[in-house]
Amino acid sequence: MSREINSLKSFHTFGIDARAYQITIAETAEALCQAWHASQQAGRPFLLLGEGSNVLFLENYAGIVAINRLKGIQISEESDAWHLHVAAGENWHSLVEYTLDKGLAGLENLALIPGCAGSAPIQNIGAYGVEFNQVCAYVDVLNLQSGETTRIDAQDCQFGYRDSVFKHRYREGYAIVAVGLRLNKAWQPVMTYGELTRLDPATVTARDIFASVCQMRRSKLPDPRVTGNAGSFFKNPVVNVDLAATIAAEFPQMPRYPQANGQVKLAAGWLIDQCALKGYCLGGAAVHRQQALVLINQENATGQDIVALAHHVRQRVGEKFNVWLEPEVRFIAAAGEQDAVEVIA
Ligand code: FAD
Ligand code: EPU
Repeated sequence: MSREINSLKSFHTFGIDARAYQITIAETAEALCQAWHASQQAGRPFLLLGEGSNVLFLENYAGIVAINRLKGIQISEESDAWHLHVAAGENWHSLVEYTLDKGLAGLENLALIPGCAGSAPIQNIGAYGVEFNQVCAYVDVLNLQSGETTRIDAQDCQFGYRDSVFKHRYREGYAIVAVGLRLNKAWQPVMTYGELTRLDPATVTARDIFASVCQMRRSKLPDPRVTGNAGSFFKNPVVNVDLAATIAAEFPQMPRYPQANGQVKLAAGWLIDQCALKGYCLGGAAVHRQQALVLINQENATGQDIVALAHHVRQRVGEKFNVWLEPEVRFIAAAGEQDAVEVIA
């Protein structure tokens, strides 16, 4: 279905007033391929969107945007696990609720993350001690030129912190059309993060974790329906042990998370907060007062307002800590995605 609308405002969570040449709602794999072929014939760029909760439009987009609305969930039972095959356009949080309603545990820590199920593998969504790769069995990708679908097993998805093969080899010319999830029947609650550590491991249920995660998220993250944002604007930086130790010598209270590879993950929100930037405004953009890692569209911000603010934040943190933040959010210019670090450097 192609619509005579081209405002992108309601198709992404930053709420930037940008337009596309054309927007198409795709409910089938064939519709995705048709939209891609139409873009090739017109000599225009092509962009796939789920719910637009991890993108920033820098300006109007000169190409065709296909909104993924492929639907359907199938559940099957194995001896030790539940298996779910989920079409890419299903809403992620609704899927979490749907599984809990059916008594299937395992997705509760990932509650309230905006976006589509098919977008979850791209940056390997993570929150409150769990990452998507821990429940992923496979990802089905469609070659938009040939129309062929290939199944990629989880171990071949190159999942990392906010990273996967879908940001690299499969970034252009492919669409994720479904994900396969495996939820172990022998449920192990993950209660390592924040308020979850206060729950009683002897009695805790998946519903308790779900409720606690929702409560923590609502207390600090702005609701995109009220205030435009794309969640954490920057990734948490992973630095070498020496740099982490140098900063910690001056700031012993700094949160830090040692990684398996001997490096240390720092909390970008804490670093920004230490630069006294909470509430700082530039144009219509601002640093969120409850969570400094979130940049918000405070008042009719343009993409360039957000870029100017992100540049300022990155400079201040870099000058104070010698840590140079990289955006998590994907930057979309008129002709397609741009390297976000280059744009704000
Ligand atoms: P989109 O923003 O639509 O797309 C993201 C990128 O993937 C784009 O480059 C797009 O072109 C591409 N893409 C989209 N669909 C497909 C497809 N089917 N095939 C191939 N490429 C595709 N993330 C976390 O990890 N943890 C969090 O806790 C978290 N909290 C958030 C809180 C808020 C308030 C917000 C606004 C965002 C948060 N995010 C979080 C980020 C975001 O929710 C995730 O990145 C989510 O997976 C994005 O899904 P989407 O459908 O909106 O993707
Ligand atoms: N902090 C501050 N000031 C702030 C913000 C944070 O001091 O303004 C401190 C907190 O007190 C805490 C630490 O920094 O000690 C970490 O903060 P928080 O628990 O809020 O998590 P985060 O590291 O800022 C990450 C993810 C979120 C995810 C949460 C929960 C990234 C980039 N962000 O945020 O994901 O929901 O942990 O697991 O990894 C997203 O990716 O969009 C996102 C929201």
